[in-house]
Amino acid sequence: MRVDYSPDAMDPGSFYRLLTAVVVPRPIAWVSTLTPDGATANLAPHSFFTVACTDPPIVQFTSVGRKDSLRNAEATGEFVVNFAPEPLFAEINATATDFPRDRSEFDAVGIEREPSLRVRPPRVAASPVALECTLHSTLRLGDSTVVFGRVVHAAVHEDALVAGRPDIELLRPLSRLGGNEWGTVGEVHELARAPYRDTARD
Ligand SMILES: Cc1cc2nc3c(=O)[nH]c(=O)nc-3n(C[C@H](O)[C@H](O)[C@H](O)COP(=O)(O)O)c2cc1C
Repeated sequence: MRVDYSPDAMDPGSFYRLLTAVVVPRPIAWVSTLTPDGATANLAPHSFFTVACTDPPIVQFTSVGRKDSLRNAEATGEFVVNFAPEPLFAEINATATDFPRDRSEFDAVGIEREPSLRVRPPRVAASPVALECTLHSTLRLGDSTVVFGRVVHAAVHEDALVAGRPDIELLRPLSRLGGNEWGTVGEVHELARAPYRDTARD
């Protein structure tokens, strides 16, 4: 037996809660941007986040409504996706508060910043990975806007690397689950994909 849910017969909020409870776990882009006057560095988590294209490298996050991160990215053409690691759990959540646009979450929450190499918005110094992006395009979908960013530079802390590769045990990513739930990495399994020629029986 299954329980059926029709978005047409439900209010949007209820269906949204169902969707975010079943599209899990979601990685978290901790997005830093600058106001157009360059005076205020904004920082906010976005879990509607993934890789959009491999070549050229493009990532995407979605602003539900028109939030400061979206408005700054549109106005300045730049943003940084900072990796959201487990030790910064409380800080990440604190930057999801709806601070006024001229109040920097870096300052309000007490997060140390460092300069980016290729774009103006700062990086989170304690985050192990920064993906510096220039705005590729935006796509308006209903109440949301998907923001595509071309990754022009990636900076990874050397203490998150093993043999030159980012290591999951060192990165310790947080993820977003349903409601106010957060996830951490559980068991990690390795399994190579089998080419078809190795699976064909005759
Ligand atoms: C873990 C987490 C994930 C979130 N993901 C999103 C998201 O994908 N899209 C969105 O619009 N808001 C998301 N939010 C809410 C925003 O972070 C929040 O509205 C924030 O105040 C937006 O900041 P801004 O106005 O500075 O951009 C998320 C919040 C948390 C705690």
